[in-house]
Amino acid sequence: MNKNFLNLKDSYLFSTIAKKVNEFQKNNPNIKIIRLGIGDVTLPLTKEVITSLQNAVTEMGEVDTFKGYGPEQGYEFLRIAIKNYYKEKNVTLQTDEIFISDGAKSDLGNILDIFSSECISLIPNPVYPAYLDANIMAGRRVNFLNGNESNKFLPMPEDGNGGDLIYLCSPNNPTGATYTREQLKVWVDYANKNGAIILFDSAYECFVRDENLPTSIFEIEGSKTCAIEFCSFSKTAGFTGVRCGYTVVPHNLVQEGTQLNKLWLRRQTTKFNGVPYIIQKGAAAIFTPQGKKEVEENIKYYLENAKIIRNTFKELGFWFVGGDNSPYIWIKCPDNMDSWSFFDKMLTEANIVGTPGAGFGTGGEGYFRISAFGARENVIEAMDRIKKIYQ
Ligand code: MLT
Repeated sequence: MNKNFLNLKDSYLFSTIAKKVNEFQKNNPNIKIIRLGIGDVTLPLTKEVITSLQNAVTEMGEVDTFKGYGPEQGYEFLRIAIKNYYKEKNVTLQTDEIFISDGAKSDLGNILDIFSSECISLIPNPVYPAYLDANIMAGRRVNFLNGNESNKFLPMPEDGNGGDLIYLCSPNNPTGATYTREQLKVWVDYANKNGAIILFDSAYECFVRDENLPTSIFEIEGSKTCAIEFCSFSKTAGFTGVRCGYTVVPHNLVQEGTQLNKLWLRRQTTKFNGVPYIIQKGAAAIFTPQGKKEVEENIKYYLENAKIIRNTFKELGFWFVGGDNSPYIWIKCPDNMDSWSFFDKMLTEANIVGTPGAGFGTGGEGYFRISAFGARENVIEAMDRIKKIYQ
């Protein structure tokens, strides 16, 4: 067996939470639990996406339009749609720099395949737990970057605490904090100077409303020689259960004379047979004019939820970050409570599920994440329940 697995926590954060919540519900069958824990979307797929999926299903049933194995890197129609989306951000990509994936999570772990096992990963703390777990499974050496209130949970390079693979997520999961252009430029310069690679998770980019904030690492000058970007349609278009995203590996990303794009292509053609045609057709519908409009409505809905949550905690005088350009609000637990005690209090007294900050790393101890992906009436009810306890 791979003994590295023994260094992992017994179960993945969201599985642990689900188990606790299910047990509470079993013992209290009449209680209405409001789930604002895992960042899972609640609005259904949009009309344009559904029509496209249905048409693709029909195509698969006709001999002339049936598709077998697709290109491992993804169908060109979707890669071109993504390329054009980047053009709107003034980022020029080549179609073969884009790789369609089944979501950001898989590739953020899979990417380790193309890097030397000697590499040190530099991982923020707190952070989306999948980064660290994937590194532990692969037996990688890890250094941590501390996020805290003084850096508003946006850690910057630190002397004497380096790494070869730098994981950055902006807008951030779990804190909802978003790096500015200037901050990302510092990271890009740091990576270029040190021959490091930034693994940039932009899964929440569609929630950025402030036009001064970057939505892609490739908006930053110099990034194409030091960064790989991972994105997903999960939060953008409700694809958490559909599974589709993409990874961008620029041609200019070269290590010791070799293009990493070639290594990634080689890896994908060997270990991946691509995302289903039907799903890619559904994803392409997100980029049509009507698809964009529909998806934007859903994003606005979640951001309005986030505003309701922010306003509640502002009113109650809690310290928090996020929720303005992201669907997560990261609050400081009141009365110096630790994250899991606050989780238990919320579950048992308010019957609300959030995510304990400590589940995202030691740096998250004493904090709590609330997701804005719930149904509006549930968000309002949850905030009323919290106000009843703390007002
Ligand atoms: C979260 O709640 O952190 C996310 O839903 C997890 C994910 O995107 O895999």
